Amino acid sequence: MNQSTLKKQLAKLNPGGLRWFDSVGSTNDEALAWATEGAKDFSLVVADEQTHGRGRLDRKWFTPKGSAIAMSLILRPSAPMRPHLSRTVGLAALSISDACLTLGLSPKIKWPNDILLGGKKVAGILVETVWSGGEADSLIIGMGINTSRESLPPVESLRFPATSLEDELGHAPKREEFIFLTLEALAKWRNQMDGDGFIEAWQERLAFRGEVVQIRAGDDERISGILDGLDSDGSLRVRDEHDKIVSVRFGDVSLRPSA
Ligand code: BTN
Repeated sequence: MNQSTLKKQLAKLNPGGLRWFDSVGSTNDEALAWATEGAKDFSLVVADEQTHGRGRLDRKWFTPKGSAIAMSLILRPSAPMRPHLSRTVGLAALSISDACLTLGLSPKIKWPNDILLGGKKVAGILVETVWSGGEADSLIIGMGINTSRESLPPVESLRFPATSLEDELGHAPKREEFIFLTLEALAKWRNQMDGDGFIEAWQERLAFRGEVVQIRAGDDERISGILDGLDSDGSLRVRDEHDKIVSVRFGDVSLRPSA
C-alpha cells in the first residue's frame, strides 16, 4: 500500500488525521490510545501488518504484511448519532459492503460483524468504545479486510470459511482505493444513522434471511429459528419454533447443520 496515495485519496474525505504503521500490534489499540489523547473526529489508523490483531470475543485476527487492510476509524458521536450507537457495527458493515458492490461483488452481512462473499468471510468488524463519565466519548471502528490470498489464516484455524477480494475478483484491488470507497460510504451512511432507511438497508443485506439459523448467544445459550430481520437497535430478530419473535443482542450466527 502506498502511504502517500492513501493520504491523497483520503484528503477528499477531510479526515481528522491519519496514522500509518508498517507494522503495529493492533490498529484498534493505537486508535483507542489516540482517541484518549484527543484525536479528532474521523481520524484513521492504518497498518500494513498487525502482530496482535484482535477479533471479537478476544479471537486472534491474522494480518500478514502487505496482504490485507487493517484500519481503525475514530468517530466522535454527533448528537443525532448518540441515541443510535448500537447501530455502529451496521454502519461499518454497510460501508464495507458498499465498497464491495462498487467493485461488482455481491456482499452479504453475517450479523453481527462479518461480511461474506459467496458465503465466505472476507471482512470482520470490531467496534470498541472510549467512555468518559458514563458517556461514549469516541467509537473505534476496527475493520479487517482480506484483500490478497495471503491474508487468509491457515484453514485449520478457521471457524467459518474465508475468502479474499483477490479470490472473488480474480485480482487484488488497490488497498488505498478500497479504503477510500469504504470510508466514502461510511461518511454518507453516518448521516443516515438515525433513519429507518438505515435499518432497512442493513436488513436487506443480511445473510441467511428467511433461513433456519442457530445462534450462540452466550457460553451455553443456543437459540434456533428463522432469521426474520433486525430490530431498530440492530438486534437480530429470530422466529422460534413456537412462532415467537426472539431478539438477540449479542451472538454468533451459524447455519444450523442439517440433521
Ligand atoms: C472479527 O471478525 O472478529 C473482527 C475482526 C476485526 C479485525 C480488525 S483489523 C483492524 C482492527 N485492529 C484489530 O486488532 N482488530 C480490527
